[in-house]
Amino acid sequence: MISTVSTTPFSDQQPGTSGLRKKVRVFQQPHYAENFVQSVFDSLDGHAGQTLVVGGDGRYLNREVIQIVLKMAAANGFGRALVGQGGILSTPAASHLIRTSGAFGGLILSASHNPGGPDEDFGIKYNVGNGGPAPEKVTDAIAAHALVIDRYKILDARDVDIDAIGTSRLGDMAIEVVDPVAAYADLMESLFDFPAIRAQIAGGFTLALDSMSAVTGPYAVEIFERRLGAPAGTVLNGTPLPDFGHHHPDPNLVHARALHDRMMAPDAPDFGAASDGDGDRNLIIGRHCYVTPSDSLAVLAANAHLAPGYAAGLKGIARSMPTSGAADRVAEKLGIPLYETPTGWKFFGNLLDAGMATICGEESAGTGSDHVREKDGIWAVLLWLNILAVRKQSVAAIMADHWATYGRNYYARHDYEGIDKDCADALMVALRGKLGALPGTPNSGGTVKSADDFAYVDPTDQSVSRQQGIRILFDDGSRIIFRLSGTGTQGATLRVYIERYVGPKGELALATGDALAPLIAAAQEVADIAGHTGMDRPSVIT
Ligand code: G1P
Ligand code: ZN
Repeated sequence: MISTVSTTPFSDQQPGTSGLRKKVRVFQQPHYAENFVQSVFDSLDGHAGQTLVVGGDGRYLNREVIQIVLKMAAANGFGRALVGQGGILSTPAASHLIRTSGAFGGLILSASHNPGGPDEDFGIKYNVGNGGPAPEKVTDAIAAHALVIDRYKILDARDVDIDAIGTSRLGDMAIEVVDPVAAYADLMESLFDFPAIRAQIAGGFTLALDSMSAVTGPYAVEIFERRLGAPAGTVLNGTPLPDFGHHHPDPNLVHARALHDRMMAPDAPDFGAASDGDGDRNLIIGRHCYVTPSDSLAVLAANAHLAPGYAAGLKGIARSMPTSGAADRVAEKLGIPLYETPTGWKFFGNLLDAGMATICGEESAGTGSDHVREKDGIWAVLLWLNILAVRKQSVAAIMADHWATYGRNYYARHDYEGIDKDCADALMVALRGKLGALPGTPNSGGTVKSADDFAYVDPTDQSVSRQQGIRILFDDGSRIIFRLSGTGTQGATLRVYIERYVGPKGELALATGDALAPLIAAAQEVADIAGHTGMDRPSVIT
């Protein structure tokens, strides 16, 4: 029987950069998850009788919210739900399943790289039929519905068994519990030269892959240990846990410190990588060689043709605006377009659908291609391994060669976390107020060439997104970018992105901190970060 439950709106259900993310305790309030799910369903048109994909990264509350979603999907007229066994679906695997099943859309339960557990974070993200995150017009509609919602529909029924593969019914809706890994692993095998990678591993090439006790464990064990023959134990922290074993599953140099230290040790493996909570991010570290995500995007784009799935070449490259310009030089050399989009994967979907770009990436450890409509951590690892298997060089040698060809974009992101929201807003307002006066003025970073607030016009549908980050550009091509995070669950996070380009004949082997020191000083001068935030240094540098 379908119940219609009266409810009142919550004022804080506007989706951010990547869906709705809140503390678990917020989601545990009566009606909170239900309100949001109903707001999603109320924003859809034509979903009656259609398929919904449901799965998550296994974090605390995953199973409970899956039951709510299934009962509400049945009550709201979906014809079929596809659920990952155990409630598990990595974000890229969910994207693939949406695409191949002809689903209307999918609900992915994840807060990505944010920690999990009763006192940590949870999230719900809606993806549309192309497998990608809902575009802004959909998320705006969800936000509007959430502000006026007065009822939701849910089926009164027993919980569904989501642990056994097979089909069942929930009211008028069919439920299929599917293997979350197999189809995704097949997709990877179709894109990359598995025999070449397997042969290299059999020849003694060593790997360390850290799944950070989050969703990629089962995927990584199947792909790297079973299909590619890496020894058992290659995948570290391979069992998804509701609290990620107290890891913060963010693959950066702070939270993947153990992997970093292992890769810098005298007996380091040849290749190391880490994935985030829901499997869309990646961190690449070669033996004694950290690769920035921006550089990784550039190297993958420059060498993608070495993998069978990309042998025909790339149609274009897309990167988020704060991501370094390293990929721009590759695009230029390849003679293909480069698109600069606002932060967030949702902006890449239209370009991929239109066949304008093949590879996309963000400085925040996200790279992916047109094989799905999400970034994909395991995909990035496999493309790297395919390139290494063909070129038979170390990661360090490949990076040195890349910089000698294209020059080097020294790059770092400084995050000031947990600052007061009003102070963060005041900093941005003050900075915005002086943009007009900055061009032509000198500071520690050099002479400012231009300063603006990034706005994006989507070339496929002309939709406009404004205020996507303040850019200070210097005469020599250096950049400082300021923006506020749209994924946090507490206070505000200021992100400062700092970049300096050195040509192929310049100094290519500086320590990043040294190369960027003048620009770091300039960021302080221009934005008075310490004055506004009370912090004299960032909480995280990546
Ligand atoms: C962050 C990253 C962004 C990424 C998003 C979702 O968003 O900066 O590149 O797409 O997480 O993974 P932010 O918190 O900066 O809004
Ligand atoms: Zn993620």
